Amino acid sequence: MELILLLRTLLAGCKEISFRVSQGALAGVLGSTLSENVQGETQKKLDVISNQILKDILSESGYVKAISSEEEDDVVACNPNGNYLVSFDPLDGSSNTDINSLIGTIFSITHAPQWMDADDPSAFLQPGTQIVAAGYVLYGPSAMLALSTGRGTHLYTLDKTHGGFLLTQKDVQVPKQTSEFAINASNQRHWEDPVQNYIGDLIAGEDGPRGKDFNMRWVAAMVGDIHRVLSRGGIFMYPFDKRNPEMPGKLRLLYEANPMAFLMEQAGGLASTGHGRILEVMPTEIHQRVPVILGSKEEVETCLSYYKA
Ligand code: AHG
Ligand code: MN
Ligand code: MN
Ligand code: MN
Repeated sequence: MELILLLRTLLAGCKEISFRVSQGALAGVLGSTLSENVQGETQKKLDVISNQILKDILSESGYVKAISSEEEDDVVACNPNGNYLVSFDPLDGSSNTDINSLIGTIFSITHAPQWMDADDPSAFLQPGTQIVAAGYVLYGPSAMLALSTGRGTHLYTLDKTHGGFLLTQKDVQVPKQTSEFAINASNQRHWEDPVQNYIGDLIAGEDGPRGKDFNMRWVAAMVGDIHRVLSRGGIFMYPFDKRNPEMPGKLRLLYEANPMAFLMEQAGGLASTGHGRILEVMPTEIHQRVPVILGSKEEVETCLSYYKA
């Protein structure tokens, strides 16, 4: 019951973000700030606004012991008696804000261990298998929620006239096969060999070993790409990058990879780093990054076979 109340609170924050996003230039919310986040990215105004909205509403709710966010350097202590921890990417795809394209909020919730102090980051260092609920809200032509509490992944659409997220697709099943892939091909020279070989075979199309043509899509917002994969299948990759072995891949385990892996597995898909299940990665620090390969089950398995070869 308390989890439902927490989710309602979180979604109230997302509705507020949805409203702010839709105001765009009219409210002066587009463009960048002068500050950088701990990831070394210039913060967009909407990154900061969205983070503040979620931080305020979750801190005041009473349900949350602490939060961690892409836009916060450290864990933020909330209510010492709160039973939950919330990790979030307040605004995913924020480079899309200034071009009126897809963006969203990604979140995951775990129980707060009794022993922890509210400002103790180590409580967040749990593998994704401990998640009790995860989801995203996509701020697109409609605002849509994808949510899982561990019993399937379900889609809801925001009814702006009544202000509620209404169930519009129960128990999403990601098609097991696909002919569509998503990867930022400008990084090709930095990919590790299995990814070079796998993508090479997709691009070879009908004439290559796969014997069929593949299409490519890239929204530059994980939330948009994952929504497409949940809706019609596909494989999404942000793989290991040889440039910086200290920083494997771009996407963040707590705020992006884990929640999306949870939703994908609950919808019959797979989510891997290339070397193991994303949800089993034991985090060593809250802002940790991981390689991400997820989507249609059989296609992800095919991709992983290149790692074993
Ligand atoms: P964020 O806006 O939260 O920092 O995340 C951006 C991420 C992710 O949404 C997307 O898949 C990826 O960055 C896009 O990366 P490229 O700039 O390489 O396209
Ligand atoms: Mn960012
Ligand atoms: Mn993001
Ligand atoms: Mn973000």
